[in-house]
Amino acid sequence: MIRLGVLISGSGSNLQAIIDAIAEGRLDASIELVVSSRPDAYGIERAKQAGIPTLALNKESYADPLAADTLISGELEKANVDYVVMAGYMRMVRGPLLQAFPDRIINIHPALLPSFPGAHGIADAFAAGVKITGVTVHLASEIYDEGPIIAQRAVEICEDDTLESLEQRIHSVEHQLYPQVLQLIAQGRVRVDESGVVRIRED
Ligand code: GAR
Repeated sequence: MIRLGVLISGSGSNLQAIIDAIAEGRLDASIELVVSSRPDAYGIERAKQAGIPTLALNKESYADPLAADTLISGELEKANVDYVVMAGYMRMVRGPLLQAFPDRIINIHPALLPSFPGAHGIADAFAAGVKITGVTVHLASEIYDEGPIIAQRAVEICEDDTLESLEQRIHSVEHQLYPQVLQLIAQGRVRVDESGVVRIRED
């Protein structure tokens, strides 16, 4: 059983997938706090409906980014969380958070990193005309969308795909993959080796 803090900025569909996986017994975890970088993120509603405490920040909170991350890490530590899960969190995590949770901040990105990092991973891959894209779950570092890769899933881009149809397929892969990876972490099967590579113990 691991205690999670989840960071969001928007719709929170990945947060919902994690909430559902916990409720259905597929993920041995609890969500202790949801932090949103925006006060209007729909994910806040999802958290409230699930009875999870929330902390909503706004643009002004990030005027001093280090102070924002000190505040966030303080709240996550107060909530006694073991892992921090970025679920569509469109901000970098900085020193105070990375030091408080070393190798314990996880991010999901809707492309096969290191390709197409940033806020528009799906659209950038689609526009580039690549034939395969996908989803990456990785440990966060001080560089946005970079850090040791835990898991990836490929998604083929078909001839008749539109950006919308591709988005749908990528999101449904995300919603499966993120709870699965978090369950591997909950089972203590994920570690970072001496060279900084993530190793997953098979049972
Ligand atoms: C997800 O597709 C996630 O991978 C992406 O934001 C979306 C959030 O959706 N994250 C990034 O692009 C990080 N660079 P959600 O709010 O519905 O979970």
